[in-house]
Amino acid sequence: MNTISSDNENLNELKLALEKHFPREHNQLMPALHYAHHQYNYLPEPAIEVVARHVKIPLSEAYGAVTSYSEMRLVKPKEHLIKVCTGLSCKIANSDDLLNIARQFANKLNDVDVEETACGFLCSVAPAVCIDGAWAGKLDPINFKTALNNLTQRIHQS
Ligand code: FES
Repeated sequence: MNTISSDNENLNELKLALEKHFPREHNQLMPALHYAHHQYNYLPEPAIEVVARHVKIPLSEAYGAVTSYSEMRLVKPKEHLIKVCTGLSCKIANSDDLLNIARQFANKLNDVDVEETACGFLCSVAPAVCIDGAWAGKLDPINFKTALNNLTQRIHQS
C-alpha cells in the first residue's frame, strides 16, 4: 500500500488540492477529510490542521469529526493490512477465530496491521476478510492460513 509523507511539500499539495476541489465552507469538512485520508492513507496531524484551516473551523472540531469515524486512522498504517469483518453475519460464522489467527500472524511480523471492520457487504459469504485491499469470503482457519502464507511470501519477495 502506498502512502505519502506529510512533509511540507505534500502539505502544500494538499492545500492546493483543497483549494481546487473543496469550497471553503464548513459543510466541506467531511469530504475534505476523506480526501486527505485517501491521499495519506491516514490523517497526520498537519493534514488535519490544513483541512480545518481550509474549511474555517477550529482544529478541535476537526479532531472531533475524525475521531467519530472508525474508518479514519490517526496513525500511519503499516505496509500490510488485514481487516477481519466482525459484523453480525461474520461473527456468527466464527470471525473471532480468524481475528485471533490474524493477530497471532501479525505479532510475528513488523509490517502487518490487523483491524476489525464493520460489515464488508459480503455477508452471503461470511466470514469475510480483506488482505491488502482484496476481500475474500467463506474463510475457515485452514484457507485463511493459506491466504496468510501467500501474504508472507509477498512480504519476503518485496
Ligand atoms: S457482516 Fe461481515 S460481511 Fe457483512
